[in-house]
Amino acid sequence: MARLVNAALTSSALPALPPRLVCLRDGRDYRLRPLGPADAPRVAEMFATLSTESIRARYGYLIHDMSPERATRLVDVDPQREAPLGIFECDAAGREGRLWAMGRLVHAPDNQSAECAFLVHDSQRRLGMASTLLKYLRVLGRRRGLPRLFAQVRRENKAMLNVFIQNGARLHFAPDSDVVEIDIPLRLPKILFDKGAPAPSIPGMSSPEKKGVSLVAVVADLVFVAAFFSFFYYVLQSHVPSNDPTMIRFWATMAAACMSGVFWLALQMLKTVFRFQRASRK
Ligand SMILES: CC(C)(COP(=O)(O)OP(=O)(O)OC[C@H]1O[C@@H](n2cnc3c(N)ncnc32)[C@H](O)[C@@H]1OP(=O)(O)O)[C@@H](O)C(=O)NCCC(=O)NCCS
Repeated sequence: MARLVNAALTSSALPALPPRLVCLRDGRDYRLRPLGPADAPRVAEMFATLSTESIRARYGYLIHDMSPERATRLVDVDPQREAPLGIFECDAAGREGRLWAMGRLVHAPDNQSAECAFLVHDSQRRLGMASTLLKYLRVLGRRRGLPRLFAQVRRENKAMLNVFIQNGARLHFAPDSDVVEIDIPLRLPKILFDKGAPAPSIPGMSSPEKKGVSLVAVVADLVFVAAFFSFFYYVLQSHVPSNDPTMIRFWATMAAACMSGVFWLALQMLKTVFRFQRASRK
């Protein structure tokens, strides 16, 4: 399995995440996209106004000067092993402005997981930038075939811990450690009719497409239910404890009708599960 993932990653076709506009809590659109070598000046610009607390919280130490070389190292990465994403300001004409947030995946040596980390500019907090980055890092992780993401966060970093909690990660607190281990499983659980298709992108996961009621489906349902009713009406007559033909017909009809109702419900549930399964594979 590990070899398969490695082989997939060393092939030239690395899963990509095309740039997209994301609308955040302030009602404004921002551009989310992978970072590349050309973004080094934007990184330096972001660091120039970051608070020392933010830098320390992210890197564990203080970076006094973000030199061009250092900024380049953050964005000019080996794409097989790292995937940095950024959120940029975006004006009405679609032109990119300042870089406000960064999130990245760093593959573990065995390619069975990747560490994720985040940095949001002090002036842009609580807009959902970290949560949005986490959402798309998850998409990227799945596309890269990773079974899980992980992170290590200091206990006192309530902001980061809350981002993970709010986004469904598992937190492991060890009594004698300052660091909380975060685990984010990426594989969808195996469910009925699941053939292990590639993980879906975000729109595919949200909900199956709603379709209008088709006449053919209604007629097919009616035929199934009528056949079910007739069969049980016939079978149940001999089970009604009466000699009165009217009573026998009445109770056989009632019992078969109840059972047909349950059958109809079960049929609808089965069709809904099928629809979800089909939608989640798109
Ligand atoms: C941690 C950090 C990335 C959060 O970024 P963010 O964009 O503000 O987070 P979000 O807007 O997505 O917040 C999502 C949720 O997390 C929680 N949260 C975020 N910041 C919080 C804070 N300061 N205090 C308490 N809860 C907080 C809230 O529940 C929030 O939802 P809400 O706003 O609806 O209440 C940001 O504060 C940061 O860059 N910190 C410094 C660097 C760092 O610590 N990196 C982590 C190293 S692993």
